[in-house]
Amino acid sequence: MQDVIIRRAVAGDLETLAQLGRTTFSETFGHLYPPQDLEVFLHAAYGADYLRAALADPDRAAWLMEQNGVAVGHALAGPCDLPHPEVGPRSVELKRLYLRRTAQAQGLGARLFETVLAWLDRDGPQDVWLGVWSDNHGAQRFYRRYGFVPVGEYGFAVGQTIDREFIFRRLG
Ligand SMILES: CC(C)(COP(=O)(O)OP(=O)(O)OC[C@H]1O[C@@H](n2cnc3c(N)ncnc32)[C@H](O)[C@@H]1OP(=O)(O)O)[C@@H](O)C(=O)NCCC(=O)NCCS
Repeated sequence: MQDVIIRRAVAGDLETLAQLGRTTFSETFGHLYPPQDLEVFLHAAYGADYLRAALADPDRAAWLMEQNGVAVGHALAGPCDLPHPEVGPRSVELKRLYLRRTAQAQGLGARLFETVLAWLDRDGPQDVWLGVWSDNHGAQRFYRRYGFVPVGEYGFAVGQTIDREFIFRRLG
């Protein structure tokens, strides 16, 4: 019997989010980068400064998914920062969606993503954007199921490494 809950992350979850963020990113993509590039990225993206600001920002929201009391997934959403000419002041973005490998492919990512979409659409359907690595075909299949389609691409920096990142959009 699996006890899975999804809850909004609060300031006191900073350390949990930092550790889970580093672990899930490394599990998924760690093999792609020289160690120094990976460390520079993890420090910036999952360091205390970034997470403290994200958790305190009323326009952003973070979630934790806990399975039998253990944090196995996290998500982050807020105003869209993606470089695309059609991104406007009201555009919103799924910024992060990550599950521990052991928690994947059981429908839990769908539950977490639907929680994020419900929050983004809380005042009615929104123009939702996300970035996904060009070779992350599993995640792209997952997002397409929700009506997201590729509309552009850009270079995503992980230290000195620049990845090809697709921009996906779902019109509200
Ligand atoms: C992407 C992710 C959130 C999906 O959550 P999940 O719980 O694994 O997915 P669900 O069980 O809800 O749905 C399964 C679907 O996910 C997709 N999927 C995602 N990653 C996949 C993978 N590595 N291999 C196969 N399918 C994958 C497929 O569409 C799959 O459906 P299918 O098997 O019928 O094709 C999760 O796999 C994950 O955290 N992956 C690693 C981190 C990541 O890539 N995050 C996205 C960054 S943009």
